[in-house]
Amino acid sequence: MKICMIGTGYVGLVSGTCFADIGHTVYCVDNDKAKIEKLNYGESPIYEPGLEELIKENSQAKRLFFTSSLSEGVNKSDIIFICVGTPTKKNSMSIDLSYVFKAAKDIAKLSKKKKIIVTKSTTPVGTGDLLEKIFKNKKKFTVISNPEFLREGEAIRDFRFPDRIIIGSNSSHSFDIMRNLYLPLINKGANFFTTSRRGAELIKYASNAFLATKITFINEIANLCEKIGVNVEDISLGMGLDVRIGSRFLRAGPAYGGSCFPKDTKGLVSMGDKEKINLTVVKSVIKSNQSRKSLLLRRIDKIFGKNIKNKKIVFLGVTFKPNTDDMREAVSLYMIPHLHKKKAIISYYDPTGEKKEFFRLKNCNFYSDIQEVCKNADLIILHTEWDEFKSLDFNKLLKQKKFSLYDLRNLYTVEQMKKKKIKYFSIGRPNVN
Ligand code: UDX
Repeated sequence: MKICMIGTGYVGLVSGTCFADIGHTVYCVDNDKAKIEKLNYGESPIYEPGLEELIKENSQAKRLFFTSSLSEGVNKSDIIFICVGTPTKKNSMSIDLSYVFKAAKDIAKLSKKKKIIVTKSTTPVGTGDLLEKIFKNKKKFTVISNPEFLREGEAIRDFRFPDRIIIGSNSSHSFDIMRNLYLPLINKGANFFTTSRRGAELIKYASNAFLATKITFINEIANLCEKIGVNVEDISLGMGLDVRIGSRFLRAGPAYGGSCFPKDTKGLVSMGDKEKINLTVVKSVIKSNQSRKSLLLRRIDKIFGKNIKNKKIVFLGVTFKPNTDDMREAVSLYMIPHLHKKKAIISYYDPTGEKKEFFRLKNCNFYSDIQEVCKNADLIILHTEWDEFKSLDFNKLLKQKKFSLYDLRNLYTVEQMKKKKIKYFSIGRPNVN
């Protein structure tokens, strides 16, 4: 089938490339000409393991095309996916749909024959109804909701082996067309679930809000574990063996970040408020997750006895999760400026390189080598669970200077650190002093 992806961000580029990889002809459109140029050279503008190879392979096979001409993309395709950004509005919880509506209006203006319009961007319940109004004089247009569930860093895998494909439409005929589109995945066992358009829009928000709730729940249990001398990992494992709970997304950590959980929890609350339905659980998740970041800073205060000035604090990893270069809502964006303001000397290393978010901080320096960045550290903070942080040479590091370790991802065990005589702090476990 011939499809057009409007927007080449995490959703549009990964899904478009993967649709080409299962045999479709895909036109990826973006108004950022520089990005399109890079893509035509086979360079991916985002860090997603395996993506660049797939882009090159499918472009060479003439299944994947990149263009900044919306008219070309729209008129060469039968199915058009809207994959533009749906950010949270400034100083609000609600979602900015201006890019979605602009894309719809442009499609309505440019397309010469009937189209199927699919929203893959995460859009609030009822967005499909509003889009239908934009296409009202194009009565042959169908508007479908097909939310994606890709995780950054594992997006290709999540496309190829989805737990489920959700299709929301008010016309049953479109289910057959979308089933055809996803047939290669369905034949490999993917669940194909159809519902109303509004149902599909809500499933996306409710799923992300639930995952964020699971994470926040275990993070709060971790706080209790620290007080009562219990290891939170035992609780996660013990709980997770109940298939009704499940062990995934039950790893205690610093707080959830990323481009989705923070945005989608707020978006869901905003939808509830609009309908005068008070989503108290999701509201408390948002509040708890935000206050957790201050809790981590209070722990650091305690480690240094509130005397942070001129202390060398090292961050290993600053992205919101491993295998991505995405900094959106990363906890480091909250912690580093706070520590910098308290006159700590911050150094950081991340496999994806220096971050523009920290350029304006005077005493915050990027190093491209782990040993180098850890030199003379007073405190090393394991912020992101990149693989290369899972077997640090502590003996080498200790030769230079005794330091404390704050392991926000529980990459190491209390016993290991006791043996190495490292002052060790972690999440939901006893501290080693
Ligand atoms: C999420 C959803 O998982 C995905 O289905 C949706 O399409 C987009 O949003 P993503 O934001 O890429 O994906 O990352 P995810 O792996 O879900 O992690 C989100 C945050 O939760 C990260 O900050 C991560 O560190 C944190 N997390 C995740 C935990 O703290 N504990 C866990 O057990 C899992």
